[in-house]
Amino acid sequence: MSDHSSTYEPTNGFTRWLDERLPIMRLMHGQFIDFPTPRNLNYLWTFGAILTFCLAIQLITGIVLAMHFIPHGDFAFASVEHIMRDVNWGDLIRYTHFVGASMFFLAAYIHMFRGLYFGSYKSPREIIWILGVLIILCMIITAFMGYSLVWGQMSFWAVTVITNLFTAIPIVGESITQWIWGGYSVGDPTLNRLFSLHYLFPFIIVALVALHIWALHVVGSNNPTGVEPKTENDSVSFYPYYVIKDSFATMVFALLFAWFVFYAPNYLGHSDNFIEANPLQTPPHIVPEWYFLPFYAILRAIPDKLLGVVTMMAAICVLFIIPWLDTSKIRSTRYRPLLKPFFWLFVITCLVLGYCGAKSPDYRFVEMADTQKYTSKAAAVSAKEEILSKNKHADLEIIESINSKEITYDLKNTKFKLTNQVLSLLLTFYYFAFFFAIMPIVGLIETPHKLPGSIAESVLGKSSADKAQ
Ligand code: HEM
Repeated sequence: MSDHSSTYEPTNGFTRWLDERLPIMRLMHGQFIDFPTPRNLNYLWTFGAILTFCLAIQLITGIVLAMHFIPHGDFAFASVEHIMRDVNWGDLIRYTHFVGASMFFLAAYIHMFRGLYFGSYKSPREIIWILGVLIILCMIITAFMGYSLVWGQMSFWAVTVITNLFTAIPIVGESITQWIWGGYSVGDPTLNRLFSLHYLFPFIIVALVALHIWALHVVGSNNPTGVEPKTENDSVSFYPYYVIKDSFATMVFALLFAWFVFYAPNYLGHSDNFIEANPLQTPPHIVPEWYFLPFYAILRAIPDKLLGVVTMMAAICVLFIIPWLDTSKIRSTRYRPLLKPFFWLFVITCLVLGYCGAKSPDYRFVEMADTQKYTSKAAAVSAKEEILSKNKHADLEIIESINSKEITYDLKNTKFKLTNQVLSLLLTFYYFAFFFAIMPIVGLIETPHKLPGSIAESVLGKSSADKAQ
């Protein structure tokens, strides 16, 4: 960790004794009390603390849930119901864990977009960013495995869909998939190993978070200006300033969290997961949890299975290399007039991709059609054939409508349609273009706004900053 002198003074015999043998209190004091932190951090910088809070909540509630959960195909669903009905405070613990997963992803996505906007991935913070990408990958794997444990219809079929993706790997795909399943389909052995790994991964995340914060404390926090602290006047000590700010933000976040837990615990879930897993009946629409929807939309946008999987993986893995894709010397998008609109378009793209992920692939966002009414089916069919004889690609559909007196047949001739798949494909294209074209090119051609001389100047104004120095 960074080598700055600590003001730590052991206060009694025991802490003096400990300090001479294991200076852990000195280390903590240096990192979380004295630590010099830019004086201009806004509330977006509280999400690191909020994420730590979420991780702790997931660990505590998860360990208690595991005491009552039975990882067996015949009992898993019932054991979850047992937790909800019979275990003391079981419903609260389970809902906190379930809602907690959503809150964790919400905070992680805000934290990531913050990093993107303010260029926190740039030198010298590349390792912090890369560790962050590893954390989000582990979070995705953990959340997916946790969702499967409920062994409801959506759990079971989500596991089936996702594990089936491995079959797309040429030659060995089939064998790998069966190895993961522990059989010829998703079943008991699969559930057992998902449970075991779901318990393991959060501890890997804890280790990665420790490295993440270590790396952060070597180089120090970025800040909204992207200008590094130059004098002591640019920083304040972590305690009390940011301890108070982080605690306040965490409490406000906890209020939103509690609102969902107490008033709408199932709002973010899917009703099909209240039905026990049935390998013989596929649900009409298999949709993942909201936090996976943009990736799901990318997967489905590509008509080829293997290419879809590769594109979806690439959508996450591209994040590893953005410190080297962004060619600009300026960190904060605040001073980058050309990048700014592209950045916000990127945010909208991710949100709309999420929306696309929730709709069926053939859903039509925009449709323009001529409709002719016919009173007999034969007339509608012959009109359809006539149009088809002139244009064999025409998109025609006969819709039968019954009102109180008569049956009518509408011949719908669709002239233009924007389907979910086409829109998802366009958005996927922009997603990658942002990283591979916009980031490198804009960085080279843009004329940035003038940066403030120092952090102190940006918050106190030039003359006050000079006086304070
Ligand atoms: C369990 C999940 C995570 C935890 C507990 C966590 C924790 C933290 C903490 C405490 C900080 C310092 C405070 C702050 O800047 O907000 C931080 C900074 C940072 N995190 Fe994370 N983080 C997590 C996930 C991620 C992810 C997924 C990414 C990106 C892919 C990421 C990228 C960063 C970056 C770049 C910084 C430096 C920000 C700056 O100095 O401006 N983190 N993280």
